[in-house]
Amino acid sequence: MIRLALLCLVLHPLSGQSLRELAEQHKTRIGAAVAPAHLGEEPYAATLAREFNQVQPENATKFGPVHPARDSYNFVPADTLAAFAREHQMAMRGHTLLWHRQNPRWLTEGNFKPEELSAILHEHINSVMGHFAGQIYAWDVVNEAFNDDGTLRHTIWSDGLGPAYIEQALRWAHEADPKALLFYNDYSAEAINAKSDAIYKMAQDFKTRGVPLDGIGLQMHLRARESIPFESMAANIKRLTDLGLQVQITELDVRLPVDASGVASRGDLGLQALIYRGIARVCLLSARCTALQTWGFTDKYSWIPGEYPGFGAALLFDANYGPKASYNAFRDLLMPSIK
Ligand code: G3I
Repeated sequence: MIRLALLCLVLHPLSGQSLRELAEQHKTRIGAAVAPAHLGEEPYAATLAREFNQVQPENATKFGPVHPARDSYNFVPADTLAAFAREHQMAMRGHTLLWHRQNPRWLTEGNFKPEELSAILHEHINSVMGHFAGQIYAWDVVNEAFNDDGTLRHTIWSDGLGPAYIEQALRWAHEADPKALLFYNDYSAEAINAKSDAIYKMAQDFKTRGVPLDGIGLQMHLRARESIPFESMAANIKRLTDLGLQVQITELDVRLPVDASGVASRGDLGLQALIYRGIARVCLLSARCTALQTWGFTDKYSWIPGEYPGFGAALLFDANYGPKASYNAFRDLLMPSIK
């Protein structure tokens, strides 16, 4: 049975509608994280515009890249991406206003008192969200604030401002761009576990008290050869959406062991396709799972080999922009009759 499914995924014809066209029939968004520097590469830009209807800067709107000195911002790379999105009628997400990584030295080494840090954050949120108002429809306001055991992570923000910083950031974000959808985004919180329990409790509390939170981003950095708890993921999405929240899959990739040339085995590529298919299914079956986004789209540019030596081939397109079995798996799921 599994072999037959793998064969179907590998042999599926590549002609026909793109992922984007199929997603639009489902009235959903299929997105990719993008490095604006690659947009000048013709196959990169052409594949992105053809197959996706949503983009998100992989790094360009993080605190360090966008706010490199206390009194200066660099909006140029993200503006380039916003112009690309406009030209190709794509939606754009923003990522991320507060995180514990990729912060500039002036911030991390500034020894700011709580009032100063608070003023810096408020100004940052106002400036960045104000700049992109009307162009970025949803923001990951806070990223990765919890540890895997559900406790609050020690970061420059939690240590400097106290545990109410998430709520405060959401309130400021709502003031800065009242039309933007505001997300909390995290990894290893896709299925029901201590971390997703903590996020659920926070979201429930925020909804009860009217703190502006519109959705939860589930990152989904997965690896093949692990058992993926699809049912538990579906249950987690259900409890979050039952609160009235949206859920978006924000950073999906499935890393594989690769040889020295970055090539994975056919068997692993088939397993990977089944995982992509399973995640697409979990999202599409929920009316409030409103976007399915991968962390990059070509294996040519992925964070995986840099962070996990010996692993790679994690995305929908190979390094030559050829569609992989994972791409066919996504297309299959988006075909109206197969869902
Ligand atoms: O831009 C500089 C460049 O000027 C410099 O020459 C070069 C030298 O190392 O570094 C470049 O910056 C790198 C940046 O990616 C852009 O390529 C940083 O060193 C590197 O740390 C950074 O890695 C990013 C990582 O977040 C940082 O934590 C990855 O690209 C990005 O994919 C990754 O994304 C995160 C999400 O934001 C949150 N969820 C997890 C995900 C994977 O870690």
